[in-house]
Amino acid sequence: MTRILFYLEDYSHDIWRDSLLKVAPGIDFRSYPDWGTPDDGPAYAFVWEPEPGLIASYPNIRAVFSLGAGVDHLTRDPNLPPEVPIIRMGDDGLKEGMAEFVAMSVLMHHRGIPSMITKQKNKDWGRFFAKAAKDVRVGILGFGALGRVAAEALTPFGYQVAAWSRTPKNPVEDVTLHHGSDRLDDFLANTDILVGLLPSTPETQGLLDKERLSLLPEGASIINAGRGTLIDLDALKAHMESGHIASATLDVFPEEPLPSNHPLWGLDNLIITPHIAAITRPDTAAEYVVRNIARIEQGDAPENLLDANRGY
Ligand code: NAP
Ligand code: GLV
Repeated sequence: MTRILFYLEDYSHDIWRDSLLKVAPGIDFRSYPDWGTPDDGPAYAFVWEPEPGLIASYPNIRAVFSLGAGVDHLTRDPNLPPEVPIIRMGDDGLKEGMAEFVAMSVLMHHRGIPSMITKQKNKDWGRFFAKAAKDVRVGILGFGALGRVAAEALTPFGYQVAAWSRTPKNPVEDVTLHHGSDRLDDFLANTDILVGLLPSTPETQGLLDKERLSLLPEGASIINAGRGTLIDLDALKAHMESGHIASATLDVFPEEPLPSNHPLWGLDNLIITPHIAAITRPDTAAEYVVRNIARIEQGDAPENLLDANRGY
């Protein structure tokens, strides 16, 4: 019988158990801390932010399914057994959620909504006349599963969409593709609305520092829905206070929740969302996990296997 060891804090586990049982009625679903003992036999972990050392203490775990696309919540564990495969989430719910969030956010920044929220507090009628979408350059950092769906959500509006990745990609209609670190500065200099959809790796941490942010055109906007380690927040604050960066939406932060005394809470033209851009949905994720357990058991490679060298 397939055994799933589930870990997610502060959330009802019933919906996850019911979704998995709906797809695979025979599974043995065990919610932490009732995982049993390693002697109970082979199991798959399905987890978000497990306590460090927990995975290592269950040597019967054959593979770990991350509840999210990001795996930094797992790789920060110094005791994570290197031989256990890690499978990143890639369910359709996550993609649909990110497409909605990016489309909503790009439209809001294009149409000046963050500045209107600021002005409303001062009863200021100051009007904002937006450019046509065809004259707005949207640059997406990261062209993986989520960068692609974000681009697809934006092109119907007529935006000039470009994307940047580590490695080259096959051509995609209506999206200008760039790759490699030597293209980044030029990419930023030609982006009016920047969308961050990068994983947290040693190469992406602090990538948007003071100098790189200064390459964005005057009045640019930033949306970050990848990981909070991407941006130097002090530098972003300084660029927003000077007006160089007109507005931003941040969904992810180096420390979450963002501490209540953090100066970003009071910054004008900044929209803060509490890491909700794309939430894994139990129904689509259950299908994804069950499908990939079957692949592993047939000896096939699962989808979205973590490449430990790349870090995503
Ligand atoms: P993915 O399919 O692995 O795509 C990652 C993309 O980033 C790839 O295009 C990759 O380039 C690019 N990349 C990585 N390192 C790079 C570097 N040094 N320089 C240039 N490009 C680089 O991942 P995904 O499923 O799209 O998810 C992306 C991230 O979104 C996740 O890792 C997670 O942190 C975040 N996320 C956030 C939320 C939220 O609610 N805020 C929800 C889900 C996910 P190559 O294609 O060339 O490898
Ligand atoms: C959410 O942040 C995820 O990694 O899926």
